[in-house]
Amino acid sequence: MVTGMVHPMPGHDSRCLSLVPGAPASVFNFAASPGPLPLSVRERLLEAMPGLLQMHHRSVAFVELAERLQAKLRELLEVPADYRVLFLQGGATAQFAMVPLNLCRGQGAADYLHTGYWSGRALAEAQQLGMAAQRAADGRALAFHAIPPSDTWQLRADAAYVYYTANETVDGVEFRHTPQLTTAPLVADMSSCLLSRRMEVHRHGLIFAGAQKNMGLPGLTVVLVREALLQGALPGTPSLYDYRVQDQQRPAYNTPVVPAWYTAELMLDWVVEQGGLQAMESSNCSKAETVYAALDTGGLYANAVAPACRSRVNIVFDLVVPALLPLFLEQAHHAGLQGLAGHRSRGGCRAALYNALPEAGALALADFLADFQRRHG
Ligand SMILES: Cc1ncc(COP(=O)(O)O)c(C=O)c1O
Repeated sequence: MVTGMVHPMPGHDSRCLSLVPGAPASVFNFAASPGPLPLSVRERLLEAMPGLLQMHHRSVAFVELAERLQAKLRELLEVPADYRVLFLQGGATAQFAMVPLNLCRGQGAADYLHTGYWSGRALAEAQQLGMAAQRAADGRALAFHAIPPSDTWQLRADAAYVYYTANETVDGVEFRHTPQLTTAPLVADMSSCLLSRRMEVHRHGLIFAGAQKNMGLPGLTVVLVREALLQGALPGTPSLYDYRVQDQQRPAYNTPVVPAWYTAELMLDWVVEQGGLQAMESSNCSKAETVYAALDTGGLYANAVAPACRSRVNIVFDLVVPALLPLFLEQAHHAGLQGLAGHRSRGGCRAALYNALPEAGALALADFLADFQRRHG
């Protein structure tokens, strides 16, 4: 039972009270990575940690944990039976290489929808590996403030896959709907939106996500892939990067970060306790509406993203008087609103509203935005 914390842990929710005189009663973590953990998850994790730290990954206990984790994820995301569920390492970044190495066999071509920072990184990685990966949609001309309309996408008939980033964590741009494609299997990076809403797994050939936003700790990456796509990796692919090797060597090909697997299970249980993906979706939409409404009022804040693709998970914004930014961040921090600095590549501000950020956090941010504007607008 947590009664009070002199040094609040990052990511704690409104139930964690600070005992420091003058400190805010509640502290909310808006950092984009890693995401916050609900208090109940942290408590269960800390209780289990001594056992987890020594759990051998070939033990019965770990094999059972892996099986439970897979079954719970399949149920929550309604993963069709002909999909494999892999739990890997290397973060989402490793998938930027694994996807082309495993899906491009016999067809070097791959089409990428370049809608922001992370899809750009994925495209560059595929090109560096020598694949004929092309920019089928180019969001650069729109300064990544909108997703190019689908009728402008230049998709090739022989592409092995079409790649998109469902939520651009840095740019605050989100695909509100699964792209409608019939040409090639769809590959999605869902690192920052997995479990944030209902998703159409069956309309994708492959989905991957790092666990550290809505599924707990860094050190675990989830891949859902349709079996038929596992035709074998390109010759020379390292075994660790070969989906088929990973799949055959269940539950883990090499030594995994066991606490991250256990935390993922706790996070799935927590989502179910909250009412499942539908409840997450409506809570996340309501949090986003609260924050966007505050940003759109009064003129001190600017969000250039087209309304139809504004992210409900990562809200990026700027102060129209840039010189106020350090003061804004400092005062927000003192008010208990932490982690609001934008990504190092773009600066400004960013509020991540992951599942474990309570609605009270969004309301506190909206209040602060209004108050700061009154004082400095
Ligand atoms: C959409 C997206 N893709 C990929 C990554 C890279 O993830 P990792 O640090 O797990 O490699 C991130 C990290 O924030 C992300 O938000």
